[in-house]
Amino acid sequence: MHVTYSTQSIVSFLTKSSWPAFIAFVVVLTSLLVLRFLGAKDVDPEEPPVVRPRIPFVGHMIGLLRHHNNYFTLLRIYIVQSPELAHAAFRQSKTIDFETIKGYASCKAVAFGQHATDVVNFRPPNGEDSYMSDLHQEMYGSLAQGPNLLETNSRVLNYLARSLNAIQTTPKEYPLFRWLRDEYTLGSAATLYGLPNPLSEDPNLIESVWDFEHDLGVLVLDFFPKITAPKGYAARNVVTPVFEKYYNAGLNKNANTLVQRREVAARQWGLTTKEISQAEISIIMAAGTNTVPNAFYMICHIFSQPDLVIALRQEINKITSRKTRDGIETVALHISMLQSHCPLITACFNETLRLNKTGAAVRTVLEDVMLDNRYLLKKGAFVQIPTGLLQSDLNVWGPDAKQFNPQRFLTQNSLPKDVRKAQNQAYMPFGGGKNLCPGRHLAYTEIVAFVAMLVLGFELSTSDGGKLHVPKGEFQRLGVASISPEKDLDILITRRKEFEDVTWEFDTGTVME
Ligand code: HEM
Ligand SMILES: *[C@@H]1O[C@H](CO)[C@@H](O)[C@H](O)[C@H]1NC(C)=O
Ligand SMILES: *[C@@H]1O[C@H](CO)[C@@H](O)[C@H](O)[C@H]1NC(C)=O
Repeated sequence: MHVTYSTQSIVSFLTKSSWPAFIAFVVVLTSLLVLRFLGAKDVDPEEPPVVRPRIPFVGHMIGLLRHHNNYFTLLRIYIVQSPELAHAAFRQSKTIDFETIKGYASCKAVAFGQHATDVVNFRPPNGEDSYMSDLHQEMYGSLAQGPNLLETNSRVLNYLARSLNAIQTTPKEYPLFRWLRDEYTLGSAATLYGLPNPLSEDPNLIESVWDFEHDLGVLVLDFFPKITAPKGYAARNVVTPVFEKYYNAGLNKNANTLVQRREVAARQWGLTTKEISQAEISIIMAAGTNTVPNAFYMICHIFSQPDLVIALRQEINKITSRKTRDGIETVALHISMLQSHCPLITACFNETLRLNKTGAAVRTVLEDVMLDNRYLLKKGAFVQIPTGLLQSDLNVWGPDAKQFNPQRFLTQNSLPKDVRKAQNQAYMPFGGGKNLCPGRHLAYTEIVAFVAMLVLGFELSTSDGGKLHVPKGEFQRLGVASISPEKDLDILITRRKEFEDVTWEFDTGTVME
Protein backbone atom coordinates (compact mmCIF):
# COMPACT_ATOMS: atom_id res chain seq x y z
CA MET A 1 0.00 0.00 0.00
CA HIS A 2 1.47 3.26 -1.00
CA VAL A 3 0.46 6.81 -1.41
CA THR A 4 1.62 9.23 -4.04
CA TYR A 5 0.88 12.86 -4.53
CA SER A 6 0.39 15.26 -7.31
CA THR A 7 -0.99 18.71 -7.67
CA GLN A 8 -1.86 17.97 -11.23
CA SER A 9 -5.32 17.21 -12.34
CA ILE A 10 -4.38 14.04 -14.10
CA VAL A 11 -4.06 10.53 -12.91
CA SER A 12 -3.05 7.36 -14.57
CA PHE A 13 -6.08 5.20 -14.87
CA LEU A 14 -4.71 1.88 -15.79
CA THR A 15 -1.49 0.01 -15.65
CA LYS A 16 0.54 -2.22 -17.85
CA SER A 17 1.35 -5.60 -16.42
CA SER A 18 4.98 -5.96 -17.43
CA TRP A 19 6.44 -4.71 -14.17
CA PRO A 20 9.66 -6.05 -12.75
CA ALA A 21 9.20 -8.74 -10.19
CA PHE A 22 11.26 -7.20 -7.44
CA ILE A 23 8.40 -5.65 -5.55
CA ALA A 24 6.99 -8.25 -3.30
CA PHE A 25 3.29 -7.94 -3.63
CA VAL A 26 2.66 -6.05 -6.78
CA VAL A 27 3.23 -2.83 -8.15
CA VAL A 28 3.13 0.80 -8.24
CA LEU A 29 2.53 2.39 -11.48
CA THR A 30 1.34 5.87 -11.54
CA SER A 31 2.25 7.99 -14.37
CA LEU A 32 1.61 11.60 -13.70
CA LEU A 33 2.05 14.46 -16.06
CA VAL A 34 4.20 17.38 -15.06
CA LEU A 35 3.97 17.28 -11.39
CA ARG A 36 5.23 18.53 -8.22
CA PHE A 37 5.54 16.05 -5.43
CA LEU A 38 5.01 17.12 -1.93
CA GLY A 39 7.27 15.98 0.83
CA ALA A 40 6.20 13.38 3.32
CA LYS A 41 5.43 16.00 5.92
CA ASP A 42 1.74 16.08 5.07
CA VAL A 43 1.26 12.41 5.56
CA ASP A 44 -0.75 11.32 8.53
CA PRO A 45 1.10 8.65 10.53
CA GLU A 46 -1.79 6.30 9.93
CA GLU A 47 -1.59 6.68 6.18
CA PRO A 48 0.42 4.30 4.05
CA PRO A 49 4.07 5.11 3.34
CA VAL A 50 4.89 7.50 0.54
CA VAL A 51 6.63 6.50 -2.61
CA ARG A 52 7.71 8.65 -5.46
CA PRO A 53 6.04 7.31 -8.50
CA ARG A 54 8.26 5.78 -11.08
CA ILE A 55 7.40 6.35 -14.65
CA PRO A 56 8.56 3.29 -16.48
CA PHE A 57 6.00 3.92 -19.06
CA VAL A 58 3.64 6.70 -19.49
CA GLY A 59 0.31 5.06 -19.00
CA HIS A 60 -2.83 6.79 -19.88
CA MET A 61 -4.21 9.77 -18.16
CA ILE A 62 -7.54 10.92 -17.20
CA GLY A 63 -8.37 14.41 -16.09
CA LEU A 64 -10.98 13.93 -13.50
CA LEU A 65 -10.19 16.85 -11.37
CA ARG A 66 -10.62 19.95 -13.38
CA HIS A 67 -14.31 19.77 -12.86
CA HIS A 68 -14.30 19.01 -9.22
CA ASN A 69 -12.85 22.32 -8.12
CA ASN A 70 -11.10 22.05 -4.85
CA TYR A 71 -12.29 18.63 -3.97
CA PHE A 72 -9.50 16.88 -5.77
CA THR A 73 -6.96 19.66 -6.07
CA LEU A 74 -4.40 17.96 -3.94
CA LEU A 75 -4.35 14.57 -5.45
CA ARG A 76 -3.43 11.52 -3.45
CA ILE A 77 -3.34 8.18 -5.13
CA TYR A 78 -3.20 5.09 -2.98
CA ILE A 79 -1.97 2.03 -4.76
CA VAL A 80 -3.11 -1.24 -3.31
CA GLN A 81 -0.40 -3.85 -3.29
CA SER A 82 -1.90 -6.91 -1.71
CA PRO A 83 -4.89 -9.10 -2.52
CA GLU A 84 -6.24 -8.76 1.06
CA LEU A 85 -6.30 -5.00 0.80
CA ALA A 86 -7.79 -5.18 -2.67
CA HIS A 87 -10.70 -7.22 -1.34
CA ALA A 88 -11.07 -4.88 1.61
CA ALA A 89 -11.22 -1.90 -0.76
CA PHE A 90 -13.87 -3.65 -2.88
CA ARG A 91 -15.86 -4.45 0.27
CA GLN A 92 -15.79 -0.91 1.61
CA SER A 93 -17.63 0.36 -1.46
CA LYS A 94 -19.71 2.90 0.47
CA THR A 95 -16.67 5.06 1.13
CA ILE A 96 -14.20 3.64 -1.41
CA ASP A 97 -16.49 4.45 -4.23
CA PHE A 98 -16.81 3.58 -7.90
CA GLU A 99 -20.00 5.48 -8.64
CA THR A 100 -18.42 8.96 -8.78
CA ILE A 101 -15.82 8.01 -11.37
CA LYS A 102 -18.22 5.77 -13.24
CA GLY A 103 -20.87 8.51 -13.42
CA TYR A 104 -18.36 11.12 -14.45
CA ALA A 105 -16.73 8.94 -17.10
CA SER A 106 -20.04 7.66 -18.52
CA CYS A 107 -21.41 11.16 -18.99
CA LYS A 108 -18.26 12.44 -20.66
CA ALA A 109 -17.90 9.33 -22.82
CA VAL A 110 -21.32 9.74 -24.40
CA ALA A 111 -21.32 13.56 -24.31
CA PHE A 112 -24.33 13.91 -22.05
CA GLY A 113 -25.55 17.48 -21.66
CA GLN A 114 -26.35 19.13 -18.34
CA HIS A 115 -29.80 17.55 -18.00
CA ALA A 116 -28.70 13.92 -18.35
CA THR A 117 -25.53 14.59 -16.35
CA ASP A 118 -27.62 15.88 -13.45
CA VAL A 119 -29.80 12.76 -13.60
CA VAL A 120 -26.72 10.50 -13.54
CA ASN A 121 -25.01 12.39 -10.73
CA PHE A 122 -28.08 12.73 -8.53
CA ARG A 123 -27.21 10.99 -5.28
CA PRO A 124 -29.76 11.35 -2.50
CA PRO A 125 -28.15 11.69 0.92
CA ASN A 126 -29.70 8.72 2.70
CA GLY A 127 -29.09 6.10 0.08
CA GLU A 128 -32.60 6.44 -1.35
CA ASP A 129 -33.24 5.44 -4.94
CA SER A 130 -31.60 7.27 -7.80
CA TYR A 131 -31.25 6.65 -11.51
CA MET A 132 -27.85 5.06 -10.94
CA SER A 133 -29.06 2.79 -8.15
CA ASP A 134 -32.05 1.68 -10.23
CA LEU A 135 -29.81 1.06 -13.19
CA HIS A 136 -27.44 -0.97 -11.05
CA GLN A 137 -30.31 -3.11 -9.83
CA GLU A 138 -31.73 -3.67 -13.31
CA MET A 139 -28.35 -4.55 -14.81
CA TYR A 140 -27.51 -7.01 -12.06
CA GLY A 141 -31.05 -8.43 -12.08
CA SER A 142 -31.19 -9.13 -15.78
CA LEU A 143 -27.66 -10.57 -15.99
CA ALA A 144 -27.96 -12.77 -12.88
CA GLN A 145 -28.35 -16.52 -13.32
CA GLY A 146 -31.97 -17.31 -14.14
CA PRO A 147 -34.48 -17.29 -17.00
CA ASN A 148 -33.51 -13.84 -18.32
CA LEU A 149 -29.89 -14.81 -18.60
CA LEU A 150 -30.79 -18.10 -20.28
CA GLU A 151 -32.72 -16.17 -22.87
CA THR A 152 -29.82 -13.78 -23.41
CA ASN A 153 -27.38 -16.70 -23.62
CA SER A 154 -29.43 -18.49 -26.24
CA ARG A 155 -29.82 -15.35 -28.33
CA VAL A 156 -26.10 -14.72 -28.46
CA LEU A 157 -25.19 -18.39 -28.97
CA ASN A 158 -27.67 -18.82 -31.81
CA TYR A 159 -26.00 -15.94 -33.50
CA LEU A 160 -22.51 -17.34 -32.94
CA ALA A 161 -23.54 -20.81 -34.18
CA ARG A 162 -24.66 -19.20 -37.40
CA SER A 163 -21.23 -17.70 -37.92
CA LEU A 164 -19.55 -21.07 -37.34
CA ASN A 165 -21.97 -22.82 -39.69
CA ALA A 166 -20.94 -20.38 -42.39
CA ILE A 167 -17.41 -21.80 -42.33
CA GLN A 168 -16.74 -23.99 -45.35
CA THR A 169 -14.82 -27.19 -45.93
CA THR A 170 -12.33 -25.41 -48.14
CA PRO A 171 -9.86 -23.43 -46.05
CA LYS A 172 -10.53 -19.73 -45.86
CA GLU A 173 -8.36 -17.02 -44.43
CA TYR A 174 -9.73 -14.92 -41.60
CA PRO A 175 -8.17 -12.03 -39.70
CA LEU A 176 -8.92 -13.62 -36.31
CA PHE A 177 -9.41 -10.54 -34.15
CA ARG A 178 -11.50 -8.76 -36.71
CA TRP A 179 -13.63 -11.81 -37.36
CA LEU A 180 -14.34 -12.26 -33.65
CA ARG A 181 -14.92 -8.54 -33.20
CA ASP A 182 -17.48 -8.40 -35.99
CA GLU A 183 -19.32 -11.58 -35.00
CA TYR A 184 -19.50 -10.74 -31.30
CA THR A 185 -20.52 -7.14 -31.97
CA LEU A 186 -23.33 -8.09 -34.35
CA GLY A 187 -24.26 -10.95 -32.01
CA SER A 188 -24.43 -8.64 -29.00
CA ALA A 189 -26.46 -6.08 -30.92
CA ALA A 190 -28.94 -8.78 -31.98
CA THR A 191 -29.02 -10.09 -28.43
CA LEU A 192 -29.53 -6.73 -26.76
CA TYR A 193 -31.78 -4.98 -29.26
CA GLY A 194 -33.41 -7.84 -31.19
CA LEU A 195 -33.72 -7.92 -34.97
CA PRO A 196 -33.75 -5.64 -36.82
CA ASN A 197 -31.46 -3.24 -35.02
CA PRO A 198 -29.22 -0.42 -36.25
CA LEU A 199 -26.17 -2.68 -36.58
CA SER A 200 -27.95 -5.48 -38.39
CA GLU A 201 -29.21 -2.87 -40.85
CA ASP A 202 -25.82 -1.22 -41.30
CA PRO A 203 -22.79 -3.37 -40.37
CA ASN A 204 -20.54 -0.34 -40.98
CA LEU A 205 -21.60 0.69 -37.49
CA ILE A 206 -19.41 -2.10 -36.09
CA GLU A 207 -16.46 0.10 -37.00
CA SER A 208 -18.10 3.05 -35.22
CA VAL A 209 -18.54 1.08 -32.01
CA TRP A 210 -14.87 0.10 -32.03
CA ASP A 211 -13.73 3.60 -32.96
CA PHE A 212 -15.59 4.72 -29.86
CA GLU A 213 -13.92 1.95 -27.84
CA HIS A 214 -10.53 2.96 -29.18
CA ASP A 215 -10.99 6.64 -28.29
CA LEU A 216 -12.89 6.14 -25.05
CA GLY A 217 -10.22 7.44 -22.71
CA VAL A 218 -9.63 10.55 -24.75
CA LEU A 219 -13.36 11.20 -25.02
CA VAL A 220 -13.63 11.03 -21.23
CA LEU A 221 -10.84 13.61 -20.94
CA ASP A 222 -13.12 15.87 -22.95
CA PHE A 223 -10.34 18.10 -24.16
CA PHE A 224 -11.43 19.28 -27.62
CA PRO A 225 -12.63 15.74 -28.49
CA LYS A 226 -13.37 16.68 -32.07
CA ILE A 227 -9.64 17.18 -32.55
CA THR A 228 -8.13 14.80 -29.97
CA ALA A 229 -10.50 11.88 -30.66
CA PRO A 230 -11.92 12.51 -34.13
CA LYS A 231 -12.99 8.94 -34.85
CA GLY A 232 -14.70 8.37 -31.52
CA TYR A 233 -16.31 11.76 -31.78
CA ALA A 234 -17.66 10.99 -35.25
CA ALA A 235 -18.83 7.55 -34.10
CA ARG A 236 -21.04 9.03 -31.37
CA ASN A 237 -22.64 11.35 -33.87
CA VAL A 238 -23.38 8.51 -36.25
CA VAL A 239 -24.75 6.03 -33.72
CA THR A 240 -27.03 8.28 -31.65
CA PRO A 241 -29.50 9.20 -34.42
CA VAL A 242 -29.87 5.62 -35.68
CA PHE A 243 -30.83 4.50 -32.18
CA GLU A 244 -33.30 7.37 -31.90
CA LYS A 245 -34.91 5.99 -35.06
CA TYR A 246 -34.90 2.51 -33.52
CA TYR A 247 -36.77 3.74 -30.42
CA ASN A 248 -39.12 5.98 -32.38
CA ALA A 249 -40.07 3.04 -34.61
CA GLY A 250 -40.94 0.99 -31.50
CA LEU A 251 -38.35 -1.68 -32.36
CA ASN A 252 -37.33 -1.82 -28.70
CA LYS A 253 -40.24 -4.24 -28.24
CA ASN A 254 -37.77 -6.89 -29.51
CA ALA A 255 -35.03 -5.91 -27.06
CA ASN A 256 -33.93 -8.22 -24.26
CA THR A 257 -34.74 -7.63 -20.61
CA LEU A 258 -31.53 -5.73 -19.95
CA VAL A 259 -32.26 -3.06 -22.54
CA GLN A 260 -35.96 -2.91 -21.74
CA ARG A 261 -35.50 -2.55 -17.99
CA ARG A 262 -32.77 -0.03 -18.49
CA GLU A 263 -35.14 2.04 -20.60
CA VAL A 264 -37.84 1.85 -17.93
CA ALA A 265 -35.40 3.18 -15.32
CA ALA A 266 -34.19 5.91 -17.67
CA ARG A 267 -37.72 7.10 -18.44
CA GLN A 268 -38.65 7.05 -14.77
CA TRP A 269 -35.86 9.48 -14.05
CA GLY A 270 -36.75 11.68 -16.99
CA LEU A 271 -34.13 10.82 -19.60
CA THR A 272 -35.31 11.54 -23.12
CA THR A 273 -35.18 9.22 -26.14
CA LYS A 274 -32.22 11.19 -27.44
CA GLU A 275 -30.36 10.81 -24.15
CA ILE A 276 -31.12 7.09 -23.97
CA SER A 277 -29.92 6.74 -27.56
CA GLN A 278 -26.69 8.61 -26.80
CA ALA A 279 -25.78 5.94 -24.26
CA GLU A 280 -26.38 2.91 -26.51
CA ILE A 281 -22.92 3.01 -28.08
CA SER A 282 -21.42 2.53 -24.62
CA ILE A 283 -23.68 -0.46 -23.91
CA ILE A 284 -22.68 -2.29 -27.10
CA MET A 285 -19.09 -1.39 -26.40
CA ALA A 286 -19.28 -2.69 -22.82
CA ALA A 287 -20.63 -5.99 -24.09
CA GLY A 288 -17.64 -6.54 -26.37
CA THR A 289 -14.66 -4.68 -25.02
CA ASN A 290 -13.57 -7.49 -22.67
CA THR A 291 -15.21 -10.39 -24.45
CA VAL A 292 -13.47 -10.04 -27.81
CA PRO A 293 -9.82 -9.74 -26.61
CA ASN A 294 -10.27 -12.58 -24.13
CA ALA A 295 -11.90 -14.85 -26.71
CA PHE A 296 -9.06 -13.96 -29.08
CA TYR A 297 -6.31 -14.78 -26.58
CA MET A 298 -8.04 -17.92 -25.38
CA ILE A 299 -8.11 -19.20 -28.98
CA CYS A 300 -4.46 -18.27 -29.57
CA HIS A 301 -3.31 -19.90 -26.35
CA ILE A 302 -5.19 -23.12 -27.09
CA PHE A 303 -4.24 -23.47 -30.75
CA SER A 304 -0.60 -22.80 -29.98
CA GLN A 305 -0.52 -26.04 -27.95
CA PRO A 306 -1.52 -29.05 -30.12
CA ASP A 307 -1.62 -31.44 -27.12
CA LEU A 308 -4.04 -29.14 -25.40
CA VAL A 309 -6.28 -29.12 -28.48
CA ILE A 310 -6.39 -32.94 -28.43
CA ALA A 311 -7.23 -33.08 -24.71
CA LEU A 312 -9.92 -30.44 -25.09
CA ARG A 313 -11.55 -32.28 -27.99
CA GLN A 314 -11.93 -35.38 -25.84
CA GLU A 315 -13.50 -33.35 -23.07
CA ILE A 316 -15.88 -31.36 -25.26
CA ASN A 317 -16.96 -34.38 -27.28
CA LYS A 318 -18.62 -35.73 -24.12
CA ILE A 319 -21.12 -32.88 -23.98
CA THR A 320 -22.25 -33.05 -27.59
CA SER A 321 -24.90 -35.17 -29.22
CA ARG A 322 -25.27 -35.98 -32.89
CA LYS A 323 -28.64 -36.38 -34.53
CA THR A 324 -30.11 -36.50 -37.99
CA ARG A 325 -33.16 -34.33 -38.40
CA ASP A 326 -34.95 -33.94 -41.72
CA GLY A 327 -31.96 -35.43 -43.47
CA ILE A 328 -29.59 -32.88 -41.92
CA GLU A 329 -26.99 -34.00 -39.46
CA THR A 330 -26.76 -31.70 -36.45
CA VAL A 331 -24.29 -31.64 -33.58
CA ALA A 332 -25.59 -29.99 -30.43
CA LEU A 333 -23.31 -28.75 -27.69
CA HIS A 334 -25.03 -28.85 -24.32
CA ILE A 335 -24.37 -25.59 -22.52
CA SER A 336 -25.74 -26.64 -19.16
CA MET A 337 -23.01 -29.30 -18.94
CA LEU A 338 -20.11 -27.03 -19.78
CA GLN A 339 -19.18 -25.93 -16.30
CA SER A 340 -19.75 -29.31 -14.65
CA HIS A 341 -18.22 -31.58 -17.31
CA CYS A 342 -15.50 -29.46 -18.88
CA PRO A 343 -12.95 -28.45 -16.25
CA LEU A 344 -10.09 -28.21 -18.75
CA ILE A 345 -11.69 -25.65 -21.04
CA THR A 346 -12.96 -23.77 -17.99
CA ALA A 347 -9.39 -23.71 -16.70
CA CYS A 348 -8.24 -22.37 -20.09
CA PHE A 349 -10.77 -19.57 -19.74
CA ASN A 350 -9.64 -18.83 -16.19
CA GLU A 351 -6.01 -18.87 -17.23
CA THR A 352 -6.64 -16.54 -20.18
CA LEU A 353 -8.32 -14.03 -17.90
CA ARG A 354 -5.57 -14.39 -15.36
CA LEU A 355 -2.92 -13.41 -17.90
CA ASN A 356 -4.73 -11.16 -20.28
CA LYS A 357 -7.25 -9.25 -18.19
CA THR A 358 -4.68 -6.67 -17.20
CA GLY A 359 -6.61 -3.54 -16.28
CA ALA A 360 -6.84 -1.93 -12.86
CA ALA A 361 -9.85 -0.78 -10.85
CA VAL A 362 -9.98 2.84 -9.73
CA ARG A 363 -11.97 4.27 -6.84
CA THR A 364 -12.36 7.60 -5.04
CA VAL A 365 -12.46 8.03 -1.27
CA LEU A 366 -15.64 9.81 -0.16
CA GLU A 367 -14.77 10.15 3.55
CA ASP A 368 -11.67 9.67 5.65
CA VAL A 369 -11.74 5.92 6.22
CA MET A 370 -9.60 3.12 7.65
CA LEU A 371 -8.88 0.51 5.00
CA ASP A 372 -9.09 -2.93 6.57
CA ASN A 373 -8.52 -1.27 9.97
CA ARG A 374 -4.94 -0.75 8.86
CA TYR A 375 -4.45 2.36 6.77
CA LEU A 376 -6.06 5.76 6.89
CA LEU A 377 -7.31 6.86 3.48
CA LYS A 378 -8.09 10.55 3.14
CA LYS A 379 -11.23 11.96 1.64
CA GLY A 380 -10.78 13.02 -1.97
CA ALA A 381 -7.98 10.57 -2.76
CA PHE A 382 -7.91 8.00 -5.53
CA VAL A 383 -7.38 4.31 -4.90
CA GLN A 384 -5.90 2.20 -7.63
CA ILE A 385 -6.29 -1.58 -7.51
CA PRO A 386 -4.07 -3.17 -10.15
CA THR A 387 -5.84 -6.52 -10.26
CA GLY A 388 -4.03 -7.59 -13.42
CA LEU A 389 -0.69 -7.39 -11.66
CA LEU A 390 -1.88 -9.38 -8.66
CA GLN A 391 -2.87 -12.09 -11.12
CA SER A 392 0.63 -12.63 -12.41
CA ASP A 393 2.60 -12.11 -9.22
CA LEU A 394 5.45 -14.64 -9.03
CA ASN A 395 5.16 -14.86 -5.25
CA VAL A 396 1.60 -16.06 -5.48
CA TRP A 397 1.60 -18.11 -8.67
CA GLY A 398 5.11 -19.50 -8.72
CA PRO A 399 7.94 -19.25 -11.26
CA ASP A 400 5.65 -19.97 -14.21
CA ALA A 401 3.33 -17.10 -13.25
CA LYS A 402 3.74 -15.43 -16.63
CA GLN A 403 3.10 -18.61 -18.61
CA PHE A 404 -0.17 -19.98 -19.87
CA ASN A 405 -0.68 -23.12 -17.83
CA PRO A 406 -4.33 -24.10 -17.41
CA GLN A 407 -3.29 -27.11 -15.33
CA ARG A 408 -2.60 -24.79 -12.41
CA PHE A 409 -6.35 -24.36 -11.89
CA LEU A 410 -6.90 -28.13 -11.95
CA THR A 411 -4.18 -28.94 -9.44
CA GLN A 412 -4.92 -26.20 -6.95
CA ASN A 413 -6.25 -28.73 -4.45
CA SER A 414 -2.83 -30.28 -4.07
CA LEU A 415 -1.28 -26.96 -3.06
CA PRO A 416 -0.68 -26.05 0.58
CA LYS A 417 -3.76 -24.38 1.97
CA ASP A 418 -2.20 -20.96 2.37
CA VAL A 419 -0.91 -20.92 -1.22
CA ARG A 420 -4.30 -21.95 -2.53
CA LYS A 421 -5.94 -19.25 -0.49
CA ALA A 422 -3.47 -16.64 -1.73
CA GLN A 423 -4.20 -17.61 -5.34
CA ASN A 424 -7.95 -17.47 -4.85
CA GLN A 425 -7.61 -14.04 -3.31
CA ALA A 426 -5.29 -12.76 -6.00
CA TYR A 427 -7.58 -13.85 -8.83
CA MET A 428 -10.15 -11.15 -9.58
CA PRO A 429 -10.64 -10.73 -13.33
CA PHE A 430 -14.21 -9.58 -12.72
CA GLY A 431 -13.38 -7.19 -9.90
CA GLY A 432 -15.17 -7.59 -6.61
CA GLY A 433 -17.66 -6.29 -4.08
CA LYS A 434 -20.65 -4.22 -5.13
CA ASN A 435 -19.27 -3.64 -8.62
CA LEU A 436 -18.32 -7.25 -9.39
CA CYS A 437 -18.94 -7.59 -13.12
CA PRO A 438 -22.62 -8.42 -13.65
CA GLY A 439 -21.78 -9.79 -17.11
CA ARG A 440 -19.48 -12.55 -15.85
CA HIS A 441 -21.92 -15.44 -16.38
CA LEU A 442 -22.78 -14.21 -19.86
CA ALA A 443 -19.08 -13.73 -20.61
CA TYR A 444 -18.25 -17.29 -19.51
CA THR A 445 -20.94 -18.80 -21.71
CA GLU A 446 -20.44 -16.70 -24.79
CA ILE A 447 -16.68 -17.17 -24.75
CA VAL A 448 -16.32 -20.76 -23.56
CA ALA A 449 -19.20 -22.25 -25.56
CA PHE A 450 -18.03 -20.61 -28.75
CA VAL A 451 -14.39 -21.61 -28.26
CA ALA A 452 -15.50 -25.16 -27.38
CA MET A 453 -17.37 -25.52 -30.65
CA LEU A 454 -14.47 -24.03 -32.58
CA VAL A 455 -12.01 -26.45 -30.97
CA LEU A 456 -14.15 -29.53 -31.52
CA GLY A 457 -15.32 -28.87 -35.03
CA PHE A 458 -12.59 -26.90 -36.76
CA GLU A 459 -8.90 -26.73 -37.56
CA LEU A 460 -7.14 -23.43 -37.10
CA SER A 461 -3.67 -22.76 -38.45
CA THR A 462 -1.48 -19.96 -39.71
CA SER A 463 -1.65 -19.25 -43.44
CA ASP A 464 1.24 -21.67 -44.04
CA GLY A 465 -0.36 -24.45 -42.01
CA GLY A 466 1.60 -23.94 -38.78
CA LYS A 467 0.24 -23.72 -35.26
CA LEU A 468 -0.93 -20.35 -33.95
CA HIS A 469 1.25 -18.15 -31.79
CA VAL A 470 0.18 -15.73 -29.07
CA PRO A 471 0.69 -12.22 -30.43
CA LYS A 472 1.94 -9.35 -28.34
CA GLY A 473 -0.61 -7.01 -26.85
CA GLU A 474 -0.90 -3.43 -27.98
CA PHE A 475 0.07 -0.42 -25.91
CA GLN A 476 -2.51 -0.13 -23.16
CA ARG A 477 -4.88 2.68 -23.91
CA LEU A 478 -6.71 4.69 -21.32
CA GLY A 479 -9.78 2.97 -19.97
CA VAL A 480 -8.90 -0.40 -21.43
CA ALA A 481 -9.36 -3.45 -19.23
CA SER A 482 -8.46 -6.25 -21.65
CA ILE A 483 -5.74 -5.60 -24.18
CA SER A 484 -6.15 -6.28 -27.87
CA PRO A 485 -3.32 -7.67 -29.98
CA GLU A 486 -0.87 -5.23 -31.50
CA LYS A 487 -1.34 -6.86 -34.89
CA ASP A 488 -4.18 -9.06 -36.05
CA LEU A 489 -3.48 -12.71 -36.77
CA ASP A 490 -4.36 -14.06 -40.21
CA ILE A 491 -5.46 -17.65 -39.83
CA LEU A 492 -6.96 -20.44 -41.87
CA ILE A 493 -10.12 -22.08 -40.58
CA THR A 494 -11.52 -25.30 -41.99
CA ARG A 495 -13.99 -27.89 -40.85
CA ARG A 496 -12.58 -31.09 -39.39
CA LYS A 497 -13.12 -34.24 -41.49
CA GLU A 498 -15.73 -35.85 -39.27
CA PHE A 499 -17.79 -32.67 -39.16
CA GLU A 500 -17.70 -31.58 -42.78
CA ASP A 501 -21.42 -31.59 -43.38
CA VAL A 502 -22.89 -31.06 -39.95
CA THR A 503 -24.95 -28.14 -38.70
CA TRP A 504 -23.77 -26.89 -35.34
CA GLU A 505 -26.14 -25.80 -32.62
CA PHE A 506 -26.01 -24.84 -28.99
CA ASP A 507 -28.51 -26.55 -26.75
CA THR A 508 -29.17 -24.07 -23.99
CA GLY A 509 -31.96 -26.00 -22.31
CA THR A 510 -31.82 -29.72 -21.74
CA VAL A 511 -29.11 -31.79 -20.20
CA MET A 512 -28.02 -34.61 -22.51
CA GLU A 513 -29.63 -37.98 -21.73
C1 HEM B 1 -14.39 -11.61 -20.15
C2 HEM B 1 -15.28 -10.70 -20.12
C3 HEM B 1 -15.42 -9.63 -19.07
C4 HEM B 1 -14.53 -9.18 -18.12
C5 HEM B 1 -13.11 -9.68 -17.88
C6 HEM B 1 -15.19 -8.13 -17.36
C7 HEM B 1 -14.62 -7.45 -16.31
C8 HEM B 1 -15.26 -6.48 -15.55
C9 HEM B 1 -14.69 -5.83 -14.38
C10 HEM B 1 -13.32 -6.09 -13.81
C11 HEM B 1 -15.61 -4.96 -13.91
C12 HEM B 1 -15.50 -4.08 -12.64
C13 HEM B 1 -14.82 -2.78 -12.89
C14 HEM B 1 -14.45 -2.12 -11.57
O1 HEM B 1 -14.74 -2.64 -10.50
O2 HEM B 1 -13.82 -1.05 -11.62
C15 HEM B 1 -16.75 -5.02 -14.80
C16 HEM B 1 -17.89 -4.26 -14.66
C17 HEM B 1 -18.98 -4.33 -15.50
N1 HEM B 1 -19.17 -5.25 -16.52
FE1 HEM B 1 -17.86 -6.65 -17.14
N2 HEM B 1 -16.45 -7.94 -17.88
C18 HEM B 1 -16.64 -8.83 -18.91
C19 HEM B 1 -17.77 -8.98 -19.69
C20 HEM B 1 -18.93 -8.25 -19.53
C21 HEM B 1 -20.13 -8.45 -20.31
C22 HEM B 1 -20.33 -9.49 -21.42
C23 HEM B 1 -21.03 -7.54 -19.87
C24 HEM B 1 -22.46 -7.44 -20.35
C25 HEM B 1 -23.01 -6.52 -20.98
C26 HEM B 1 -20.40 -6.75 -18.81
C27 HEM B 1 -20.99 -5.71 -18.13
C28 HEM B 1 -20.40 -5.00 -17.09
C29 HEM B 1 -21.03 -3.88 -16.42
C30 HEM B 1 -22.40 -3.29 -16.74
C31 HEM B 1 -20.14 -3.45 -15.42
C32 HEM B 1 -20.32 -2.26 -14.46
C33 HEM B 1 -20.83 -2.71 -13.14
C34 HEM B 1 -21.11 -1.54 -12.23
O3 HEM B 1 -21.93 -0.71 -12.60
O4 HEM B 1 -20.54 -1.44 -11.18
N3 HEM B 1 -19.13 -7.23 -18.62
N4 HEM B 1 -16.52 -5.96 -15.78
C1 LIG C 1 -12.28 -20.89 -12.53
O1 LIG C 1 -12.34 -19.73 -11.71
C2 LIG C 1 -13.44 -19.64 -10.87
C3 LIG C 1 -13.34 -18.32 -10.12
O2 LIG C 1 -13.56 -17.26 -11.00
C4 LIG C 1 -13.48 -20.79 -9.90
O3 LIG C 1 -14.64 -20.72 -9.11
C5 LIG C 1 -13.47 -22.07 -10.68
O4 LIG C 1 -13.39 -23.16 -9.78
C6 LIG C 1 -12.30 -22.13 -11.63
N1 LIG C 1 -12.44 -23.37 -12.38
C7 LIG C 1 -11.46 -23.98 -13.00
C8 LIG C 1 -11.73 -25.30 -13.61
O5 LIG C 1 -10.36 -23.47 -13.12
C1 LIG D 1 -1.60 -12.71 -22.89
O1 LIG D 1 -0.82 -13.67 -22.19
C2 LIG D 1 0.34 -14.15 -22.82
C3 LIG D 1 1.10 -14.97 -21.81
O2 LIG D 1 0.91 -16.30 -22.02
C4 LIG D 1 1.25 -13.05 -23.27
O3 LIG D 1 2.30 -13.57 -24.05
C5 LIG D 1 0.47 -12.02 -24.07
O4 LIG D 1 1.30 -10.94 -24.38
C6 LIG D 1 -0.69 -11.55 -23.24
N1 LIG D 1 -1.39 -10.51 -23.96
C7 LIG D 1 -1.69 -9.37 -23.38
C8 LIG D 1 -2.41 -8.43 -24.26
O5 LIG D 1 -1.45 -9.12 -22.23
